[in-house]
Amino acid sequence: MSKTIKKIGVLTSGGDAPGMNAAIRSVVRTCAYHNIGCVGIYRGYQGMIEGDFKEMGPRSVNNIVNKGGTILKSARSREFMTPEGRKKAFDNIKKAEIDSLVVIGGDGSFTGAEVFNSEFDIPVIGIPGTIDNDIFGTSFTLGYDTALNTVIDVIDKIRDTASSHNRLFFVEVMGRDAGHIALNAGIGAGAEEILIPESDLGLERLLDSLKKSKLSGKSSSIVVIAEGDKIGKNVFELKDYVESNLPEYDVRVSVLGHMQRGGAPSCFDRVLASRLGVRAVETLLEGKSNFMVGILGDKITLTPLEQAIKGHSEIDRELLRVSEIMSI
Ligand code: F6P
Repeated sequence: MSKTIKKIGVLTSGGDAPGMNAAIRSVVRTCAYHNIGCVGIYRGYQGMIEGDFKEMGPRSVNNIVNKGGTILKSARSREFMTPEGRKKAFDNIKKAEIDSLVVIGGDGSFTGAEVFNSEFDIPVIGIPGTIDNDIFGTSFTLGYDTALNTVIDVIDKIRDTASSHNRLFFVEVMGRDAGHIALNAGIGAGAEEILIPESDLGLERLLDSLKKSKLSGKSSSIVVIAEGDKIGKNVFELKDYVESNLPEYDVRVSVLGHMQRGGAPSCFDRVLASRLGVRAVETLLEGKSNFMVGILGDKITLTPLEQAIKGHSEIDRELLRVSEIMSI
């Protein structure tokens, strides 16, 4: 017998991502549409342990669809990894009469939701929110499209100075241990080389490629490197290595860092967030639990949370080939 859902708790967890606010807004307003309660849980699972809650209505989420970050804040909670911490959280949500949860975050956040559900039988639905796009079961995670556009905007600016000074730039981008941002933004920004953990270019091939670029008449180059790349050297060591082996290159490094996590969400991310929020709430109302809502093709889909957590989001090999051809 599925539970009757009367009040949904919503939280954001893990690294923040543009579009999280649009998703919060969608969850809150979908609850109002269905005349059920909604409670904002601040600072992820840590706020659940501390009872940091706020009743949310349609007006609570005015003017946030276009805002980066998350009004509910985010945090990583070590205490939630303990049974005692999870019990405190459970006692708090029971006291607040919260009977189900929508968790907006990445695979780590979904793992916490799975454990919490298994211990306390609270229905949970995940919304994939991370710029890394590294979650199985969805073609896009919230924030990824916005991060790509941020990165290509910055690389376009770097290209101006690289070409003015005939320089080689190594640009390091985020993605944790996935290369989706590097590969797609690298192609979009016209990078001469793209280094990602999923495809080990190797130092010798990198040098060879840079030599060919020079010989082909390129006076400046951009190499995009994913922070999780396994080429064996960090981006600053790579600079020194290239300078010592290719003295004809004047090399600089730019580590983009957390700017990739900010900014107004793109229209794509706002629309995706709105669609995922509706589906998350209505999936709970259908009496379902332990799913992640996502998008495959242009359809909003459900993936069992366990698969989303354990699955691996593959790099598109066709895209790799495109990047090789474009850097001729
Ligand atoms: O998972 C999103 C992400 O931005 C990764 O790309 C990055 O490696 C990590 O978070 C950084 O974590 P923190 O915000 O804790 O420094």
